Amino acid sequence: MSISANIISVGGGKGGIGKSVVSTNLAVGMALSGQKVVLMDGDFGASNLHALLGTSHPPYGFQDLFINNLSSDSLLIETGISNLKFISSAGDNPGSANIDPERVQKIISFIKNLKADTIILDLGPGTSFNVLDFFNISPQNIVMSSPEMTSVMKTFSFIRAALFRKLSLYLQDQPDLQRLVDHSHPSQTDVETYTVDILRENVEKIDNSQIQRINEIIDKFKPGIIINRVRNKKDLLAGNNLVNLVKKYLDVDLNYLGYIVESDRVRDSVEEMVPFLIKDPQSKPSENLQQIIGSLTNTDLHLVKEDGRIFVSKHVRLSSGWDV
Ligand SMILES: Nc1ncnc2c1ncn2[C@@H]1O[C@H](COP(=O)(O)OP(=O)(O)O)[C@@H](O)[C@H]1O
Ligand SMILES: [Mg+2]
Repeated sequence: MSISANIISVGGGKGGIGKSVVSTNLAVGMALSGQKVVLMDGDFGASNLHALLGTSHPPYGFQDLFINNLSSDSLLIETGISNLKFISSAGDNPGSANIDPERVQKIISFIKNLKADTIILDLGPGTSFNVLDFFNISPQNIVMSSPEMTSVMKTFSFIRAALFRKLSLYLQDQPDLQRLVDHSHPSQTDVETYTVDILRENVEKIDNSQIQRINEIIDKFKPGIIINRVRNKKDLLAGNNLVNLVKKYLDVDLNYLGYIVESDRVRDSVEEMVPFLIKDPQSKPSENLQQIIGSLTNTDLHLVKEDGRIFVSKHVRLSSGWDV
């Protein structure tokens, strides 16, 4: 087990695009492939991950860190799937999504200190600073989108808001420059008025010496993307459209990890409270998800179910994958 875990945060501007379903099944797939995985519910306002894992009433949640001073390890809930533990955020009450910055920092250091190979953090919707800060703790973060143009545009805004939040925190001691990334909320502006090229031009006018560091932050920012609920060939173009849009206006290289088809198998699995990868690892959405895990881990993962048991085969890919 590695000392510092690989954190994967899963975000995306809209609710209902499959962040929680996909996070859960990603965590299940990685655990089945032999990694020690912790899945954390980061939707502090409306947690539902426990239900996707088949638990109606989780015994405790991360709030117990603050209320009962429980230790990190005692918050981990067994899932019944070997190698996979879970941290709930259930026990939410109205307003629990508005966590103050001190608590955000405490939760972030709690997540970073968890002992696991991989931690998957399922985020809530929207582009509030809390959501963006949780998204940005991981260099291997994933943005989800559905294929419709409105969703793609929302996803673009989410990516821009996350990048500009990162730059804003870096520039917090230089209010003149910070104002350039903060002058209005990026999610409310159209693509052309708030681009990285315009930002660079404006920074150069004020303080040329910062441009190199800003470019380094932009270069390092490489979220992965997954397009969920694909119904036809045309929908498949959404991934490339998003990659091109983000390159053109933000100069950011997205890592296209793959897509998942729209399928009743997914909906049924949610209703039955069994992850679709376990219910039917050879279904189309499960195959899509195995491809995505392959892109993330640089392995070829193949799951087969026989007589109710799941068999796993895993091969390391020879070509190199994500450079982090
Ligand atoms: N690929 C898919 N095919 C069919 N239904 C899906 C798919 N992905 C998600 N869903 C449906 O969308 C619902 C919302 O998904 P969820 O993961 O809770 O979204 P989010 O976490 O982004 O708000 C799920 O309960 C499921 O019924
Ligand atoms: Mg969710």
